[in-house]
Amino acid sequence: MTRETTNTPQTYDSVSRILHWGMAAGFAWVFSSALAHKFFNEGALDSFLWPTHKAAGLLLAACVVIRLLWAVLNRSRRPASVSLVASLGHLALYALMVAVPFIGLLRQFGSGRAFEAFGVQIMAATPDQTYGWMVDLGGNFHSLLGWVLLALIVGHIVMTLLHRRDPSQDVLPRMLG
Ligand code: HEM
Ligand code: HEM
Repeated sequence: MTRETTNTPQTYDSVSRILHWGMAAGFAWVFSSALAHKFFNEGALDSFLWPTHKAAGLLLAACVVIRLLWAVLNRSRRPASVSLVASLGHLALYALMVAVPFIGLLRQFGSGRAFEAFGVQIMAATPDQTYGWMVDLGGNFHSLLGWVLLALIVGHIVMTLLHRRDPSQDVLPRMLG
């Protein structure tokens, strides 16, 4: 079903667009910090970016909750998906956008260590109350799913550019507004 054959809106509303591009900038920051940490450990870039990883991730976790609610509430007022694959791709992006930061936060909570972001205490230190399964879940899946999310984002961007070649499938103007 293409947008020409439906009477659904031609573009995403401004809240959806602000959330999409604002969060894209947030993901660029968080993944830069993760890449610097993995490949230039303890280099200047890592020392600058890594201390911001958890706080930026927390911000993205908050934004994805709002984005998800907004997407569900406005689903009938959004452009129709170009294909089932596109819908499933967006669904997978949402699943990982939720899972990756929340697994990170769960590990932080389970470790019993204090967590402060933007000068605000998010979690107090609870050294005698730790949860091994939360720490293990984070250890096993946070980074792994984080890299899967990065691969999906690259695929998402490549597909957007490929769709530009066919005017009836060009979805970029929907998100640019
Ligand atoms: C959407 C947001 C996030 C993304 C995409 C993300 C992604 C990643 C990735 C790809 C890595 C692997 C880095 C490496 O291999 O060196 C990583 C590591 C890590 N992340 Fe996140 N992260 C996010 C949010 C968070 C949050 C909210 C926390 C905690 C509050 C957190 C805590 C950590 C920690 C402690 C590590 C190091 C893990 C280790 O060395 O095993 N992250 N993250
Ligand atoms: C340069 C970077 C990006 C470009 C050019 C881009 C482009 C687009 C376009 C054109 C759409 C509309 C697709 C359609 O209606 O079929 C879209 C939707 C979407 N994009 Fe991106 N995107 C980018 C980055 C990201 C990132 C980093 C994420 C999240 C991890 C993301 C997640 C989504 C999701 C979930 C949708 C579905 C609409 C929504 O609920 O927001 N995008 N993107």
